[in-house]
Amino acid sequence: MNNTVAAAWSRLEALDRPDLGQLFAAPDRLTTLSARLDLPGGAIRFDWSKTHLDAAHLSAFEDLAAAVGFSARRAAMIAGEAINATEGRAVEHTAQRGIGDPESVALAGAFHARMAALVRAIHAGALGEIRHLIHIGIGGSALGPALAIDALARDGALVDVQVVSNIDGCALEAAFARCDPAATLIAVASKTFTTTETMTNAASALDWLRDNGVADPYGRVVALTASPEKAVEWGVDETRVLPFSESVGGRYSLWSSIGFPVALALGWEDFAEFLDGAAAMDRHFLETDGAANLPLRAAFADLLYARLRHCQTRACFAYDERLRLLPSYLQQLEMESNGKRVKADGSPVDGPTAPITWGGVGTDAQHAVFQLLHQGTHVVPVDFIAAIAPGDELSPDHHRNLLANCFAQGAALMAGKSSDDPARAYPGDRPSATILLDDLNPATLGALIAFHEHRTFANAVLMEINAFDQFGVELGKEIAKAIVGGGASFDSSTEALLAEAGIR
Ligand code: F6P
Repeated sequence: MNNTVAAAWSRLEALDRPDLGQLFAAPDRLTTLSARLDLPGGAIRFDWSKTHLDAAHLSAFEDLAAAVGFSARRAAMIAGEAINATEGRAVEHTAQRGIGDPESVALAGAFHARMAALVRAIHAGALGEIRHLIHIGIGGSALGPALAIDALARDGALVDVQVVSNIDGCALEAAFARCDPAATLIAVASKTFTTTETMTNAASALDWLRDNGVADPYGRVVALTASPEKAVEWGVDETRVLPFSESVGGRYSLWSSIGFPVALALGWEDFAEFLDGAAAMDRHFLETDGAANLPLRAAFADLLYARLRHCQTRACFAYDERLRLLPSYLQQLEMESNGKRVKADGSPVDGPTAPITWGGVGTDAQHAVFQLLHQGTHVVPVDFIAAIAPGDELSPDHHRNLLANCFAQGAALMAGKSSDDPARAYPGDRPSATILLDDLNPATLGALIAFHEHRTFANAVLMEINAFDQFGVELGKEIAKAIVGGGASFDSSTEALLAEAGIR
């Protein structure tokens, strides 16, 4: 850590620690800590007033951002420089949304045009009657499409999409049970086109089509990949290979051809709005400096809890059934990006990195895990996410109660409640932030996801780590391959488990 960075952290460590009640005594608390962004699909409001951020923190974190060269790192990412140094790669998910190096933006536009043409051709019946898509992918090749479709296609998808990720055959069998093989298309989504789970599921999907009378199963496959030559070698006709660039990271790939199932389910126009919403957030992130930059401000709050107060987890509760998959999407985004123990220069990190990201959906979670949030020994910073416009057409009682519960939880965590009976006392002073959308639609969902991408990046820059590699996932994969391949021997516990399961 250089001296300026060390000095910024020391200043942060030395700040006073008023509780939330004291912080709310400041008359401008709400205006200082809340913000509203007007975006293509409606406004998104952000309220960090119920966190322990205050003017002193914002200023000290701004000094930290300056000390680590945040603006230059952000500019380098957007310019397409190889900021993922360990893999020698640029990081160009924003180029998929039209923001970045002009050549990369043009290439992404060309890939999108190819994808739009195929989506429209399928809708027009070029591949026969297609009512189902089985989308096979894992990690970043599945979580984003699953989230976007679950959130946005509830009123009826143009094509029914089943997302299958697990190598457990039960997952694929469940999808088969919901699909008519005569009217089913298979998308094989894999950046590398080598991932064991995806290739095993893809082979079984071809068998299923063949066994159910489809004469040319390969004719029903679309490949979504940054390795188009591997897809062609595997048997997919070049006309149905939708490429994307190597510089788009797996967990940032929803905007590329990995978003094909989203476009097929919603229609190309909605997918274009999704990209536009993300681009609006990109522009905010790129053009706004200091604590007014909302993803950066969110990272300030994250680090206040992770680094200064040693909170080991952070939770996201969506008070919106349509966002029930958001926590698992954020888990990969944040934990695979920032779950690191060395800095970008290879030296050990200076403190805790990504907290364990978890969460759920409100109000369900209130009746399951909120006990710990209110009275447990862990302090868990919480993000609440909700939309003002209801997603349902039932009695307004549903949505009024949903939002009332969302806001009540933040108020209760902060205020607490004293009682003579210790079991009935709430300590309070527990932090939360609220993100409130006017409406959940393709554009605001795009902006919400892009906000979290930039927040993750901002955290990484402030901690001086590389958010874009993920070597930690490799060792387990190698050992699994060695087990399946036979020959290698392991510790006595692993050997005994293999023998018991009949794998040896
Ligand atoms: O193993 C982790 C990982 O590489 C993720 O980063 C990625 O999203 C996922 O596997 C799937 O990879 P691919 O798209 O290459 O199949």
